[in-house]
This record gives sequence, C-alpha cells and structure tokens, in this order.
Amino acid sequence: MDYIDLRSDTVTKPTPEMREAMAEAEVGDDVYRDDPTVNRLEELAAQMLGKEEAIFVPSGTMGNLIALLVHCQRGDEVIVGSLSHIYLNEAGGMSALGGIQPCPVPNQKDGTLHLDDIRASIRTEDVHHPITRLVCLENTQNICGGVPLTPTYTRRVGELAHQNGLSLHVDGARIFNSAVAQNVSVRELVEPADSVMFCLSKGLAAPIGSMLVGSAKFISRARHIRKMLGGGMRQVGIIAAAGIISLETMVNRLAQDHLRAKKLADGLRHVAGLSVDEGSPYSNMVYLDLTENIEIDSKQICDQARSLGILLDAENSRRFRLVTHYWVDDNAVDKTISAFREILT
Ligand SMILES: Cc1ncc(COP(=O)(O)O)c(C=O)c1O
Repeated sequence: MDYIDLRSDTVTKPTPEMREAMAEAEVGDDVYRDDPTVNRLEELAAQMLGKEEAIFVPSGTMGNLIALLVHCQRGDEVIVGSLSHIYLNEAGGMSALGGIQPCPVPNQKDGTLHLDDIRASIRTEDVHHPITRLVCLENTQNICGGVPLTPTYTRRVGELAHQNGLSLHVDGARIFNSAVAQNVSVRELVEPADSVMFCLSKGLAAPIGSMLVGSAKFISRARHIRKMLGGGMRQVGIIAAAGIISLETMVNRLAQDHLRAKKLADGLRHVAGLSVDEGSPYSNMVYLDLTENIEIDSKQICDQARSLGILLDAENSRRFRLVTHYWVDDNAVDKTISAFREILT
C-alpha cells in the first residue's frame, strides 16, 4: 500500500531526478577530499548560507554534535532551549561524548529564548562555575509548532552572545522552511550565527545527509571531529548528488508544503473532536489535540488511520503533529481531513 505519510518530513524518499543523479554521480574518496560531487555540494551550501565553508555529514544529529565539539571543551556549558532537539532528542550526545553541560532556558511559545533568560544564564568568572561558551537556537523550532525565528531576533541573540564572548550555533534542520515562510533570504537569517547545521534529508527530500557551515577555521576543525566520530565517508558523492538537487530545485517549492499545511489545518479545524493549535501552521507542521469529549486516544486513532492508508505521529495520548512534504499532495490533504472525520464520528 502507498501510505500518505504525515509523521515527519524525514520520510521523504528521493525523487526520480535524484535517483538518476545518484546513479551517474562522479565520485572519489571524500576523506582525501577527492569526491568532486561532495566538493560541489559543500561549495554550494557555503555560498547559499553566506559562510566560508561547509562540510557534508551523515545526519543532523552528527552535524550539531560536531558543532558543539568544535565550540566547546569538556566542562564547558551551552545555553539551549528546554524544548530544543539538541537538548531533548540527540541522546545526550553533548554530555556523553563531549563532556559538555547543557544549560536549558525555557522556549517561549514563539520558539524564542528570552534575551533576559539567556543573559541570566551566562556564568560569571568564578572558579566554581563551568564556562559558558555557546548559545544554540533552533530555526524553525519544531516542538513549538515549526515556528520560524526572525532575522531580527537572531541578530539580537548573536549580538548578546558575541558581546559576552560566546558563539552562536543555529540548529537549522529546517532553515529553508524558515526562510521561505518569512520570505527572507537564508543568508540574512543565519548571518549572526558562527555555525549552522541544516538538513538535506527533511523537506528538501534528499535521502541522507546534512550540512554544517561556518568559517574556514571552524570547518577545518569540524573535519577532524567528523573523522573522530566515524563520519568520514568515502565515495559519498553518490548521496551528495541528491543533496545538490535539493539545494538547486527543492528550496522554493517548500512554499507549497506550507500552503498544504495551511489547507490541512483549515480543514481539520472543522472536524468535531479536534482542536488545532491557534496560529498553526507556521511552516510545514500542524499541531493539534483531541478535545476532551473524545474517548479514544491518539494511538487508537493512529491505528485506524493506518488502516485507511494514513500514517500519523502522536506526540502523546491526546496530541498529534502532522508534517507536509514533497510526497503529500492536495489529494492526500483532502483524504486526511476525511479520514479524521470518519474516525471521530
Ligand atoms: C530540529 C531538528 N534538529 C536536528 C535534527 C536531527 O536530524 P537527524 O535526524 O538527521 O539526525 C532533527 C531531526 O528531526 C530536528 O528536527
């Protein structure tokens, strides 16, 4: 069965054009920097984000971890959102592998961290204290609703960080969704950041891979650490070829995913038994809850939806996150709205 898969944008399979490019990719040993396709992808990524250099990594998690390991020494502290992927969903990698301590600051509803909270979390010079090195932002902020952070906000955080001798890392797994949703250039959005990770394998539909971008010095150190973590891949142009197509052809079309997310949210707002978050969607994610009168839980709904050919992600027993992407068309949106109506009546 061909399912309509709304669990995440990570489920996107490569397009026929990507598969063709992958089959024909010119390759070499990337650890020797000999893979022309990877080199091209890295140059393209650096140029698009307005940074000196980029490095291709197997996953967003590894990209974030490498960034943290470059910015921090053991015992250092990183200011992160309490609802951030780095803090909640990367298996504690920064602590386990880097000896780095997270300092969580509450994420506001709009995905931001209050500047005052960041300021108050920066440790003072004291032999008892860890050394604060880094602030991390997530853009779009996933758990807060796929909310984009603005260039102005990012600039303010960058200024605060730099005035205090800290660096700024942006987990931009979906940075192009953020730029497209706000109709701003991605370069402007990440200009204040010292490093940015973004994923090719989510809304941009590549099968594998993320990019880490920053200064030449930063990326040179990142190459050592990627090797240390076992992320030095060889004839990896095979997958970089798909990443090039992502960057060249998949960015502007994210607007369609956002429109479909809006159509989905608008339709679900008219289904009795569902309460779609106010303001949702901000990009390609729709968050909603079951209303109190509904007796079945989200797991039962997921099971019934599966039998109707739809895959859903339950956040907890009452809450869902639905994500639109390249393989979700208008027909899929209509079918999903009808399926919820059928299940809940
Ligand atoms: C905001 C955010 N950052 C980082 C990641 C990690 O990416 P990966 O799954 O490629 O490790 C994800 C994955 O969903 C994410 O949503």
